[in-house]
Amino acid sequence: MISTETREPAIRVQAITKSFKDLHVLRGVDFDVAAGSIFALLGSNGAGKTTLVRILSTLLKANTGTATVHGFDVSSAPGEVRRSISLTGQFAAIDDMLTGRENLVLVAKLRHMKNPGTIADDMLARFSLTDAGNRRAATYSGGMRRRLDIAMSLIGDPPIIFLDEPTTGLDPQARIEVWQTVKELAKGGTTVLLTTQYLDEAEQLADRIAILHNGRIIQNGTLAELKQLLPSAKIEYVEKQPTLEEVFLALVGDDAASAGEESR
Ligand SMILES: Nc1ncnc2c1ncn2[C@@H]1O[C@H](COP(=O)(O)OP(=O)(O)O)[C@@H](O)[C@H]1O
Ligand SMILES: [Mg+2]
Repeated sequence: MISTETREPAIRVQAITKSFKDLHVLRGVDFDVAAGSIFALLGSNGAGKTTLVRILSTLLKANTGTATVHGFDVSSAPGEVRRSISLTGQFAAIDDMLTGRENLVLVAKLRHMKNPGTIADDMLARFSLTDAGNRRAATYSGGMRRRLDIAMSLIGDPPIIFLDEPTTGLDPQARIEVWQTVKELAKGGTTVLLTTQYLDEAEQLADRIAILHNGRIIQNGTLAELKQLLPSAKIEYVEKQPTLEEVFLALVGDDAASAGEESR
C-alpha cells in the first residue's frame, strides 16, 4: 500500500482547461492515476472525455493547466509521452483487407520492432486470436476486432494505455471479452485510463472512478467510496447498497443526458 501511495502517479492532471471557441469543455480538471491501476473517467456523451484523452496523448493542446504522463510533461516532452502510451479510440485502426496477423506485423514494422512475426504471434496468443490470425479482419466479430485493435496498440509494450470508450457499440458478449482483456492488462502492470459512459463498465473494471461533469471532476473515488455518498436505503431486515447508477444520477442530477448541450 505505502509503495503505491508514495510512487509517482502514472498520470497527473492539474487544472486543465480547454475551450473550443466559446464552448468551455474542460474548466479545470484535476486527478492522479496510480501506476498499475485502472482509472475510469465516467461522463455523459459530450462531457469532454475524448478531449481530455487527446490532451493527455498530445494530440491536442490544453489552454491552461499541466499534465504529466509517465513523468513527462505533455506540452514540453510530447515525444517521450507518446513513447510511453498507447491509444485506442472508439474507431479501430484495423485494415479489413489484411488478416489479423498481417495487421499486427504491419504495426510492428512501422514501430521498427525486431522480429515482427514473432511479436504478432505473441499478441495473437495473448488476445486469444491465434485461431483467427490468418483470417481477414473483415470477418471478425465486434469483440475480436476490438481485441485486435487493443493488441495493435500494445505493440512495443507501453506502460500506459488510454482506452477511449473501449466497448461502445459492442454486444454484451464482446464487452465481457474486452473487460477480461483490460483486467489482464492491469494485472500485468499496465496503467489503464479508460473513458466510458457505461456505469457498469466503471463498476466492473475500475480501481478508481472519476465523474466528469460540466467541465470538472465532480467526484473521484473507489466504487465503495462513491457508494458511500448516498446513505444506503434501509428496508426492513435488508440493507440495500445504492448502485453506481443511483450515485451518478444523484450527483449530476437530471441534466446528465443533456450535459453536452448545456455547456454549448
Ligand atoms: N475540435 C473540436 N471543435 C469544436 N468542438 C469540439 C471539438 N472536439 C470536441 N468538441 C465539443 O466538445 C464537447 C466534448 O466533446 P468530447 O470530448 O468528444 O466529449 P465525450 O468524449 O465526453 O463524448 C462536445 O460538445 C463536442 O462537440
Ligand atoms: Mg468521446
